[in-house]
Amino acid sequence: MIASLMAVMVHFFWILQTEKNARGNLNSVRGFEVVDEIKAEVDRICGRPVVSCADILAVAARDSVVALGGPAWKVRLGRRDSTTASRALADSVLPSASMDLPALIDNFKNQGLNQRDLVALSGGHTIGLSRCLIFRNRIYNATNIDPAFAKQRRATCPRTGGNTNLTPFDSTPAKFDTAYFSNLVKQRGLLTSDQALFNGGSTDKLVKTYSLNPDAFWNDFAKSMIRMGNIKPLTGKQGQIRINCRRAN
Ligand code: HEM
Ligand SMILES: *[C@@H]1O[C@H](CO)[C@@H](O)[C@H](O)[C@H]1NC(C)=O
Repeated sequence: MIASLMAVMVHFFWILQTEKNARGNLNSVRGFEVVDEIKAEVDRICGRPVVSCADILAVAARDSVVALGGPAWKVRLGRRDSTTASRALADSVLPSASMDLPALIDNFKNQGLNQRDLVALSGGHTIGLSRCLIFRNRIYNATNIDPAFAKQRRATCPRTGGNTNLTPFDSTPAKFDTAYFSNLVKQRGLLTSDQALFNGGSTDKLVKTYSLNPDAFWNDFAKSMIRMGNIKPLTGKQGQIRINCRRAN
């Protein structure tokens, strides 16, 4: 549950941050109801909607990481929510699981995030699960994959059907550790976008560093989460405080 929570936090948060839009139906991640519950509880205690969904997500993302044994960081508050929501725009801005390294670098660069941010933040995939339909192509077709790992994954992700079957990103999906990075070094990345970070390119060295040095990963992850959280926030009289995080008021 905490994994789903974190995914909703970070991906949804990403959407809010990158283009100040929220899609009502984020079908790539689970646990949306949890956000609704947190929002309802905060509003109940405040007596009315005072805290933005963007701030709630920023705090919840941090708390999820801490709860799973990861680093803590200070979350600056005062973000406001967007007054519009565009599914199409969100889809066009979000990075996709099939992206190669140049595409990922470009995608992050468009948000003012560099290669170090890309690698550190992708480490968020030390937590949680992915659906068969997202990584099927890789486990059946990719050449940069450990054959034993591919075989293992095929057992629960058939060529056809089983689209929603879930598989953890790494062997410890509820622990904020460096297993994600040591897997990449062994060509055991689950998504194409994961393995792209260790595929003979400019980010190989950093992946290796993180795989051997949890403190380096923790420090950079915390820094990059702060950087991501501070991308073009709406403040002051801009935007609104949403009543329902799934849509504009
Ligand atoms: C680099 C670009 C990224 C891509 C292409 C990407 C893509 C994905 C995809 C396709 C899934 C699986 C969704 C599903 O099958 O339901 C997923 C799950 C997840 N992602 Fe990402 N993601 C990215 C960045 C991030 C970042 C920056 C974080 C956190 C800092 C993050 C945290 C998570 C978590 C925790 C899950 C697990 C969801 C769960 O178990 O419910 N991702 N991501
Ligand atoms: C493997 O690649 C081929 C050619 O691109 C594609 O038609 C096929 O659907 C892929 N297989 C899977 C299981 O994704």
